[in-house]
Amino acid sequence: MPSGYDDDRLRELKAFDDTKAGVKGLVDAGVTAVPRIFHHPPDPTPVASAADAADADAIPVIDLARADADRDRVVAQVRSAAESVGFFQVVNHGVPARLTDGMLAAVRRFNERPAAAKAAFYTRDAPRRRVRFNSNFDLFESPAANWRDTLFCQAAPDPPAPEELPADVRGVLPEYAAAARRLASSVLELLSSALGLETGRLGGMGCADGVSVVSNYYPPCPEPEATVGTARHSDPAFLTVLLQDGMGGLQALLGGRWVDVPPVAGALVVNVGDLLELVSNGRMRSVEHRVVANRSRDAARVSVAAFCNVDLGRESSRSGRLYGPIAELTAGGDPPRYRSTTVAEFLAHYDGKGLDGRPALHHFRLPAAASLD
Ligand code: OGA
Ligand code: NI
Repeated sequence: MPSGYDDDRLRELKAFDDTKAGVKGLVDAGVTAVPRIFHHPPDPTPVASAADAADADAIPVIDLARADADRDRVVAQVRSAAESVGFFQVVNHGVPARLTDGMLAAVRRFNERPAAAKAAFYTRDAPRRRVRFNSNFDLFESPAANWRDTLFCQAAPDPPAPEELPADVRGVLPEYAAAARRLASSVLELLSSALGLETGRLGGMGCADGVSVVSNYYPPCPEPEATVGTARHSDPAFLTVLLQDGMGGLQALLGGRWVDVPPVAGALVVNVGDLLELVSNGRMRSVEHRVVANRSRDAARVSVAAFCNVDLGRESSRSGRLYGPIAELTAGGDPPRYRSTTVAEFLAHYDGKGLDGRPALHHFRLPAAASLD
């Protein structure tokens, strides 16, 4: 590759990062073309048509109001979704609309402040700052940038001090994070049962001790075919609870096609992360997904992902627990498909790689998994 190209690209990335204004800053400046650093090669994967009846219920919607009265049935629904498509939506999930609506509105408000107000939060100082605003966490690692800006907050187990948070989200983010974590804990109970384990098993492994709240803002894109909102990836967590507004654009890779995960009023999206796929020995699927660039002329899309994981502060400060396929799941002649790893090692691999389209989990597969796909 001609080194002049790399030099130019690095200069352009730095110039963009130095504005601290993110993609929203480009749009406000009136760009009519997508700058080269955001260009993605065309994706040959076909998009499933909305008219395809089989896709209409590809991502199941599960009513958690029935989780007590009819637990076996809800466990069966969750098992089927986690094992096949890796995604489901939940309604009657117990997170009040006051918090979901409030969270989306707060994230929108923050991102729509003047650039100078947001610049104070703009940083890539990941270990030190628990609250970080930036555009593209992997800007300098990935081959192409995404058309979105992000406010990251490590929200559990130790929430940030109120003054660490932008004023716009201060009154809602900690409460939303706590509610999303409670929901994740009850979903982990259902998933434990779905794997034939004690209800407290996954929770007891620390799968929701830590919660990162990642709030995404997808500005309108002048050339949506040239780039993406979020490049294809699977989530580096045990479980993700995703709140999306009504714009749409999230797609999961199912059967070799991109299938919409449509906005459902009042619902939250739940998806299996890489670490749950690993500890479930591949029974539950961490499915790749992406967000297309926002095709709207004037309205931004907002989403809030709550990533449930171990308490990362604790895991990196001690030698680190090893996570591998749960013993009961490999007892019945099903050989381990993944090697054990610490969450810190897994994340170092994931982050170092950037969103380059290769599943991070492949790096941890044992030969028995080679036949999986
Ligand atoms: C993510 C993600 C989807 C969305 O943040 O990992 O997949 O709709 N987000 O923003
Ligand atoms: Ni994701």
